[in-house]
This record gives sequence, structure tokens and C-alpha cells, in this order.
Amino acid sequence: MAPSLVSLTAARDPYPVFRVLRERYPLVRDELLGAWLVSRYEDVRDALARPWLVALPPGRTLSHMEGATHRAHRALLEPGLRGDALAALAAGAARTAHVLAHRIAARREADLVAEFCRWLPAAAVVTALGLPPEDAAYVQRWCRGGLTHLAGHHDELDARLRPHLVRRRAHPRDDLLSVLCAAEVGGRPLSDGTVTGLVGALLGGGGDATALALASFLANLLAHPDQLALVRERPELIPAAWAESLRRDPPAPVVLRRAVRPVTVAGTPLPAGAVVACLVGAAGRDPARFAEPDRYDVLRTDPGHLATGTGRHACLGAELACHIAEYGLRALLDALPGMVLAPGFGPEPRGLLTRGPRTLLVRPG
Ligand code: HEM
Repeated sequence: MAPSLVSLTAARDPYPVFRVLRERYPLVRDELLGAWLVSRYEDVRDALARPWLVALPPGRTLSHMEGATHRAHRALLEPGLRGDALAALAAGAARTAHVLAHRIAARREADLVAEFCRWLPAAAVVTALGLPPEDAAYVQRWCRGGLTHLAGHHDELDARLRPHLVRRRAHPRDDLLSVLCAAEVGGRPLSDGTVTGLVGALLGGGGDATALALASFLANLLAHPDQLALVRERPELIPAAWAESLRRDPPAPVVLRRAVRPVTVAGTPLPAGAVVACLVGAAGRDPARFAEPDRYDVLRTDPGHLATGTGRHACLGAELACHIAEYGLRALLDALPGMVLAPGFGPEPRGLLTRGPRTLLVRPG
């Protein structure tokens, strides 16, 4: 019988389950989850890009939009996360990383998740939106309460954003929130609900996905000192080391979709209404696609992870996340040159829909 993802074993370590699924059940119904599981690299890539498979649970953000509406809203956000705007955000992330890393340097022992990974991406996205810096603390609380890329409903986020929306609609500034407040789609301004949904997705992308991915990235390097030494010697390898960590340990190993029409997934027709779990984590360790897939190897010559999606909904913040990781690591290596895992501590990733180590104890050295 095919294993289910709804089990304590899978939440603790889904990779053995992913292996069985990939080898023996490339498309199988998980009754407990209420979804079809798709696990091989090629099938997951196809499913992520396939029309008529839409994001789940339903919501009001970019991931839930399709067709012309999706293209129009995506085009609004894109300039704020590309080109000169991206360069400015990266420079800001470098400054924040420097401050955070130097704070830790003075300590005997520190938890990089609590004191670095949760702050750096949240601060970068808060800056992109033009929100007050102290809102990075709220982002962490909302993410602990379930704010992700798919946003979700957050009364507190709505309430906190409302006065900013009123002000930006009256007096636009040079930030992403003003762009959204001034934007029109189909000749009509975006409603407060739409703006809040988009803002929630951006904050969730930074505060949840990027924070977890950064924790896994640092954990991978600290747990593989030979790889850390390589990156230290050749910092130009940092983006490859980040991509390799996303492949091996994606922060969102399961991406859920719902069929709004009959679709074919992994060669099998599924009816409208079917829920499909795209196992990005299983795809990243598919030996048919990646040599020695369990190994963390910053010199890998077969890149191509799916952790930031693919196709029309591919992640808009992927480049920003990569800059955050690069400047974050550079700042840590600069301020804590002898950084090692705390004695007796081993990073333990947790979670299934969102996954990463929840603590990362280090000795600054
Ligand atoms: C390592 C960090 C990140 C990971 C692993 C990640 C992953 C993803 C994934 C899997 C998707 C969905 C793709 C799909 O549905 O097919 C997505 C979409 C998205 N991400 Fe990220 N993300 C990250 C960081 C960010 C950041 C920092 C931001 C914002 C600043 C962001 C903004 C978005 C947006 C707006 C979408 C929706 C795109 C669309 O539907 O057109 N992400 N991301």
C-alpha cells in the first residue's frame, strides 16, 4: 500500500516516503490527505506549469489568479522586484545583514533562526513595500499564525495595513505599496482587499519561505564544513550553493493545486475538482534527474530545482531571496569567521507544507 503524507513519520522526515512514492507510486491517491500525489521530477514540473490546476487553498493573491487578471497583477509587482529596485533592495539587505551579524558576533552562542533568518528576509520585504522597519516583528508573528505565499486571512494584517493604504492612495511614495495603491487593472483601482492579499503574499514569501530556506541553507553549509570552506574560498559559488540547498531542502516541499477542469497528470486523466499535491521535495531528490540526489554539493553540474516553481506562477521573489541569502552569508562569514554549529547540536528540519530547521545553534567562533 502506498504511504500517506499524513503521518508523524512524514512530518519528521518525508524523504523516505518521497522515495517510495517516486519509485513505486508516481501518481497515487492519498486518501488521508484527500489529494493525488505526484512525485517524479518531470511530472512535478509539468503539473506546476499546467493550465487549469490552480492554487489551493483558495485566496485573493497572485497565486490564485489566472489568465489576463493574473498577467496584469503580476506585471504590477514585477518592476518592484527587478532591475534598479531589486539592486536597491539587495543593498538594503546587505546593510541589515551586517547589523544582525555583528550583533551575534559578540555572543557566546546564538540561534541563527531566531536572531538572523527570521529578521533578514522580513526586513527586506517590509522595506520593498515601504512599511515601517518595526513591522518586520509583526511579519514574524503573522507567519507563525499561518501567513505564507498564499497569504490567508489575517485580521491584524488588514487592520495594520489600512492606514498605510489610505495614506498611500492620497500621497503615493516611491515604494511597492504605493505602486499597488495607484494601480488600475481594467480601468479600475485595486480594492483594499486585493492590495492586502498581494501584500500578505509578499510578506509571507519573505517571512516564511525565505526565512526557512535561509535556515536550511546555513544548516547545510554548517553541517558540511568542506562545502562551507569551498564557498568561503570562492564566494562566487554562493548563488549555486543557495540553489543546491533549495533543491535538496525546499522550504515548501508540497505545493497543492486543484483542477478546475479535467486534466492529465503524470499520464493519468483526473476529473475537475481533483486536488493534486506537487511533491517539489521528492522532485528535487529524483535520481533520474539529479546524480546522488541526497548529497549537498555546491559544485553540482546538473542544477534545475523546482523549489521556486515554474511556468506562469513561478516565484516573483526568487532573485530577491537569492540576494538575501548571498548578502546574509557574506555578512555572517565576515562577522563570525570561525562560526561552527554549537557542540552537540544537529539541525533538525521540521514540517511538511513548510519545512526547515526551527533552531540553528552556533558558536560564533
Ligand atoms: C527561498 C524563498 C522562496 C521560495 C522557496 C519561494 C517559492 C515559491 C513558490 C513554490 C511559488 C509558487 C509557484 C507556483 O504556484 O507554481 C512562489 C510564488 C510566488 N512567490 Fe515565492 N518563494 C520564495 C521567496 C519569495 C519572496 C522573497 C517573495 C516576495 C518578495 C516571493 C513572492 C512570490 C509571489 C508574489 C508569488 C506568486 C507568483 C504568481 O503566482 O505569479 N517569494 N514562490
